[in-house]
Amino acid sequence: MTKILITGAQGQLAYELEQLAQHSVIALTRAQLDITQYDAVQKAVDTYQPDVVINTAAYTKVDAAEHNSEQAYAVNCLGAKNIALACEKNQIPLLHLSTDYIFDGSKNTPYLETDPASPINIYGKTKWQGEEAVRSHCEKHIILRVSAVFGQHGQNFVKTILRLAQEKETLRVVADQTMCPTPARAIAEALFTIITMPRWGTYHYCGLPAVTWYDFAKRIVQLAKEQMPLHIKELEPITTADFPTAAKRPACSVLDCTQFEKNFGPIRPHWELGLKNVITTLSTS
Ligand SMILES: NC(=O)c1ccc[n+]([C@@H]2O[C@H](COP(=O)([O-])OP(=O)(O)OC[C@H]3O[C@@H](n4cnc5c(N)ncnc54)[C@H](OP(=O)(O)O)[C@@H]3O)[C@@H](O)[C@H]2O)c1
Repeated sequence: MTKILITGAQGQLAYELEQLAQHSVIALTRAQLDITQYDAVQKAVDTYQPDVVINTAAYTKVDAAEHNSEQAYAVNCLGAKNIALACEKNQIPLLHLSTDYIFDGSKNTPYLETDPASPINIYGKTKWQGEEAVRSHCEKHIILRVSAVFGQHGQNFVKTILRLAQEKETLRVVADQTMCPTPARAIAEALFTIITMPRWGTYHYCGLPAVTWYDFAKRIVQLAKEQMPLHIKELEPITTADFPTAAKRPACSVLDCTQFEKNFGPIRPHWELGLKNVITTLSTS
C-alpha cells in the first residue's frame, strides 16, 4: 500500500484526499507541520518515509496576500522549496499544486503549460516562485495547476454565494472574468490517478466548461433553490471595475488540459456535477 504524506491537512483539497484515499495517509495540519520550517519538514519526511508527498498547503487568501506578501512568499515559495529539498534528499516524488493565477489572463485562448508565467498579484507571483523552486530542487515532481477550487469543506466561492444568497436579496457578481471551476474531489481523484502513473512535469487540470463568475453564481443559486430556502431575488452582473479588490485578477484564466488528458486519460470533470454533489451535501448536513 502506498504511503502518502499530505501537507495542509485542514484545507479543502486535503479533506477530499483523505476522504477518497485507499492508501495509507499521514495528513498533517499546519499546527503539526508548518512547511515554512525547514527543519520540521526534513524531520517529518525523514521520520515518516512516505512513498509520495502531496503538498496542498498554501497561502490562498488572494486579497490578503497583497498586504501579507512575506507570509504568502514564506508558505507558497519557501514552504514548497523546503518540501522539494526534503523529497529530493529522500528520493521521494512530490506532487505539488499550483494555480491558473500564475497567468495574467490577457490571452484569448486557453493557457498551455508552456506559456510564460506573468502573474498580476502577489498570490500568483508567490505560487509561480514555488513552482520554480519545486522544478529546481526535486527531480521527481509533478506540478498540477488547478483553478477555482470548490468542495464541501473549507472556504470557497460556492459556499460564499450560498451564504450570501441566504442573507441578501440582491447579489452583485463580476461577469467579465472567465475561469474553469474545479471540484476539489475531482482534483483528489486526478492526483490518485497520477500516483499510479507518475509522468514527471507540469500539467493543467480544471473543470468544464469555462464560465464567468457571474454565470457560475447563477447556476449555484438555481441548483441551491431546489434544495434549500434562499432569500435572494436578484443576481446582478457587474464589471471588475465596479468591484475593486486589493488583488488584480486575470480576465480569462482558462487552462488547456490536453497534456493532462494525453498522459493520464480523459478524466476532466464537468463542474456542474461536482456542484450538485456539494450543494446536496451542504443542504443535508
Ligand atoms: N482554492 C482555490 O480556488 C485554488 C485555485 C487554484 C489553485 N489552488 C491551489 O490548490 C492547492 C490547494 O488549495 P485549497 O483550496 O485546498 O487551499 P485551502 O483550503 O486554503 O488549504 C490550504 C491549507 O494550507 C494550510 N497552510 C497555510 N500555511 C501553512 C503552512 N505554513 N504550513 C502548513 N500548512 C499551511 C492552511 O492552513 P490554515 O487553515 O491553518 O490556514 C490550509 O489548511 C493550493 O496549492 C492552492 O494554491 C487553489
